[in-house]
Order: sequence, then C-alpha cells, then structure tokens
Amino acid sequence: MAATLAILGGGAIGQLLAMDLCQQQHSPILLTRPDSATGIIRHQMQRLDGSVQHHSLRHAPSNQPQHCDAVLVTTKAYQAEAALAPVLAWLPASTPIVLLHNGMGPQQRLAQRFPTHNWWAGMLTDGALKRGPHSVSHTGQGVRYLGPLAGQGRMPEAVTDIGFISEATILPRLWQKLAVNALINPLTACYGCANGELIRPGYRAELQRLSDELAAVAKAEGITMTAEQILTWGLSVAEATCGNRSSMLQDIGANRSTEIDAISGFVVERAQAHGLNADAHQHNLTRVRQLSNRAQA
Ligand code: PAF
Repeated sequence: MAATLAILGGGAIGQLLAMDLCQQQHSPILLTRPDSATGIIRHQMQRLDGSVQHHSLRHAPSNQPQHCDAVLVTTKAYQAEAALAPVLAWLPASTPIVLLHNGMGPQQRLAQRFPTHNWWAGMLTDGALKRGPHSVSHTGQGVRYLGPLAGQGRMPEAVTDIGFISEATILPRLWQKLAVNALINPLTACYGCANGELIRPGYRAELQRLSDELAAVAKAEGITMTAEQILTWGLSVAEATCGNRSSMLQDIGANRSTEIDAISGFVVERAQAHGLNADAHQHNLTRVRQLSNRAQA
C-alpha cells in the first residue's frame, strides 16, 4: 500500500530517500523551513548505473500539519533537535520518527525530552552527493538499518521497500556507524585527505589508538565490539569509499558546522561518565572544533 513519508532534511540523503520512495510508488513530502512555500518541485537523481530519473516531490513547511505515516529525519546531527521542534508541535505522538543522522546524543536527548513520541533510529552507509537543491547523485550502494529507540509499534512497509532492514535492537548498529565515523571523519577533516588515504601505514597507530579507546567505552556502555573489529570496519569503509571526501571534510570546506560533537564529542562524554581515557578522541574533538571555528571566522 502506498505510504506517505515525510522527510525532514533536504540534503543528499534526504533527497536520495525521497527519490527511492517515489520509485517505489510511495508519496514522500519534503518538509522545508517553517513558513516556506508549499509546492510540487521536480527533482533529479543520477542513479549508480548513470541513468537519470526525475520525480515531482511535494514540499511543505515543517510547521504546517501534514498527514504522514512516518517522519524520516535526515538533517545533520546538530540540526535534528531544532528542525524537529515545529514538527513535534503537530505530529501525532504515535507516528514513528526515525533519526538517521551520523553520531549519537540527539537520539537519546530527544527520546528523553519527548517521551510520549514514537522514536526510532537508523543508519545507512550509502554514498550520495547533493548536486543542487533539487538534484542528487547516488554515489555508493550501502546498507540501511532501523529499529525502535524507545517503545515499540509498527513501521510502514515503505521503509522496507527502500531497503531498510528492521532490527529489534538498533544501538549496536548505531555504535558501529559511530565507530566508522569516529575513525574516518575527524582524521580526513584534520589532514584534508580523501577517505582512502587513511589506509596508508602512516595513519595506523592513530587509528589503532582511536579503536582501543572506543572499544573500552563501548564495553562500558554494554556494547560488544573489539578494537580489532573497529579498526577493520574503519579500514574497509575507507577502502570502499576511497575517493570520497568525508562529510566532515566537506563541512569544513564549505564553512558549515560539523558533526564532531555527536561523533568524537559523544565518545569523550561517555568515556568521562565511566572514568575512561579517551585522549585520542578528545584530541580530534579539539582539532576539528578549532578548524571549524577558523573556517567560520
Ligand atoms: O560521514 C561520512 O562521510 C560517511 O559516513 C563515511 C562512512 C565516513 C564515508 O565518507
């Protein structure tokens, strides 16, 4: 049955998911800034095989009530809470909200602050490049997972139609993605290099330290992942996306805020809560904040 999914965040991943939903005969709504114009806008997407597709997407301001079966949040981590505020004012508490940003922190804060809402979280490893406000390229086939954060309930089948695999416990997947991001994003941002550079032996000691610290923090949080697994995930994603510039490197280059607080910042915060050492992550946090401040000055 055709479903209406609202997408909050019109970046590369938001556009990619919206186009995938159209392809599967669903009707996404792109929620735009409060008080922006409503309208039908033609979007373009270049698929992995190079073919180009067009679909007309409904745009609607996020502060205007909509009928929708679920909300997919594809903003940056640092935007999620503010972007959701106008939506939570009209969204029925039972409607699933799926948080798909990198990193952690906003998921836990939102679920705690608005306990009556139906919170889900997910992660995807697709590569996508925003070519313009209405144009995106799918640059890498990834895996997609989601699961309930707090409470239960049903998710519309539309998410399965666009490749999401449902997990009863989503936290281990979120930690796995966090681990990959905590290894790749700060280093590529600090060294100004493509992901694939990190495979070189010169980066191995730094990656090993980050993996060791992260494994200890995860263990204290009840998540089983060894330093070897973390390093292997980081290196294999760096290799699979070797030509890509990480989202954090792109953010620094474009003078945008970065997701460092939800990535290294989250690791440092959890380490402190357990009295553990996370000096390597703290070092990255400090360096990326400095780079970001300089870029935005
Ligand atoms: O944030 C990113 O850029 C991506 O999540 C990843 C996996 C590091 C690949 O570039």
